[in-house]
Amino acid sequence: MKIFLDTANLKEIREGAALGVVDGVTTNPSLLAKESGDPEALLLEICQTVDGPISAEVVATDAEGMVREGRHWAGLHENIVVKCPCTAEGLKATRTLSSEGHRVNMTLVFSPTQALLSAKAGASFVSPFVGRLDDISTPGMELVADIVQIFDNYDFDCEVLAASLRHPMHVVEAAKLGAHIGTMPYAVLLGLLKHPLTDLGLKRFLEDWEKAKKELAAKAAH
Ligand code: G3P
Repeated sequence: MKIFLDTANLKEIREGAALGVVDGVTTNPSLLAKESGDPEALLLEICQTVDGPISAEVVATDAEGMVREGRHWAGLHENIVVKCPCTAEGLKATRTLSSEGHRVNMTLVFSPTQALLSAKAGASFVSPFVGRLDDISTPGMELVADIVQIFDNYDFDCEVLAASLRHPMHVVEAAKLGAHIGTMPYAVLLGLLKHPLTDLGLKRFLEDWEKAKKELAAKAAH
């Protein structure tokens, strides 16, 4: 499973990249709006920090505008993937952009049929929003399972990018279902690593080692 960071925060992206397990980054207008500075310059810095797909979202709502913005994003850096919303206009834009060789990440996917249409339009990635479905008492992970099955049935060349993952169990479930990618906030990535028994075990190893060293030193001094 590939791990993407769902943030536009450079500090978090740098720290995540330093761990050596980050394969890409997803941004959206809300995430970019949280950061200061020019979004274009920020996206370029992100591209220079992580060598993998970096999603940059269009904000136009008509296909023509999406295509224009998408070409612009894609022209900034070869790693940039154009994020389009899963609407009729987004579908049209995806067909055009993908035919031109640009990779599209179809975002705001909340149903298996939206994912099916996105793959047919040539999207390289679909982003089902797990947490936002959970928020409205609908099991988001079932959507991931449905999409993985549909794409497998027809061998679609489109990756399932489980998004809106809010905690480590979301990541575990998405991985068990075979989602190709999970995108998550930096805090969730850190949560994947943290285990109290690891911390406790390490503390004990180091204490035992120090004790043994002191005993050896004491013996040598006699
Ligand atoms: O990648 C999608 C993500 O940014 C949405 O997450 O937590 O706002 O639902 P969330």
